[in-house]
Amino acid sequence: MATETASFGAGKRESHDSSAFYRRRLHPAAEPPPLGEPVVPPDAILNTLHCQSSERMEQIPDDCVALMVTSPPYNVGKEYDEDLTHEEYLALLDGVLRETYRVLEPGGRVAVNVANLGRKPYLAVNHVVAGLLRDLGFLLRGEIIWQKAQGAGGSCAWGSWQSAKNPTLRDLHEYVLVASKGSFRRLRIGEDSIDRDEFLAATLSVWNIPPASARRIGHPAPFPVDLPKRLIELYTFRGDLVLDPFIGSGSTAVAAVETGRHYIGYDTVADYLDIARQRVARAVVPAGA
Ligand SMILES: C[S@@+](CC[C@H](N)C(=O)[O-])C[C@H]1O[C@@H](n2cnc3c(N)ncnc32)[C@H](O)[C@@H]1O
Repeated sequence: MATETASFGAGKRESHDSSAFYRRRLHPAAEPPPLGEPVVPPDAILNTLHCQSSERMEQIPDDCVALMVTSPPYNVGKEYDEDLTHEEYLALLDGVLRETYRVLEPGGRVAVNVANLGRKPYLAVNHVVAGLLRDLGFLLRGEIIWQKAQGAGGSCAWGSWQSAKNPTLRDLHEYVLVASKGSFRRLRIGEDSIDRDEFLAATLSVWNIPPASARRIGHPAPFPVDLPKRLIELYTFRGDLVLDPFIGSGSTAVAAVETGRHYIGYDTVADYLDIARQRVARAVVPAGA
């Protein structure tokens, strides 16, 4: 029997009718920006890397990217970080997300990996990015908890030992915020490649994926290829274009090649793009792609 939104909650959900839930005024009333049509990306930009700030991505026409996957800089003093004020940092993120909105096809998605920072006080970067996405007109779809480890390893950063004086949390996780441009459904439909078990795992909100080794890859903060790979398999079709505006060592490009998608990436550090090119050259293209 089909279920529907109920004042006492609905247990199992089968053919669930949630229209009563969506009739409630939970979200601020907003006029969605007008939508164009999805555009086929030009061949000239497929599988290219660009050494420039992604605040402007003039190579990419409007409305042609199926998915943006990225992990932004955090302005925390990594070797690639500039020393920005909080306002300058927000302006950088806002500029890149605004440009991403332009190039994303209607129905396209963004998946932004962020870690929250510090303890004194705690900076909730996931809230900051969610607010920027919402204010730019993206439709938020959800938030994945990326669990990087089962235990704290050698971390002793627990604050005051066995005392309520000032115990602190030791993070095992980061976040991936997922949003759509204009439509939750993809408007341009293609061929899927995700298998049953991967789909069941990818549609859960907690993902267990071990981190990548910065030393082995030669970049201070790479994410593991399995993270963009799962996002690409879940949210795109074969042959789609995937953008990473902060591509670093090219993990998103490797994931795109290994799933039979195309990539385009930006980074301001030429040495990282050299690493990315070497990693892409070693990536294994799936049979039939
Ligand atoms: C967290 S890292 C991304 C790492 C990447 N996911 C990987 O697996 O290697 C952020 C990257 O953003 C780059 N970056 C910083 N500011 C930038 C900008 N304005 N435009 C493009 N890239 C930028 C940095 O050089 C750095 O490589």
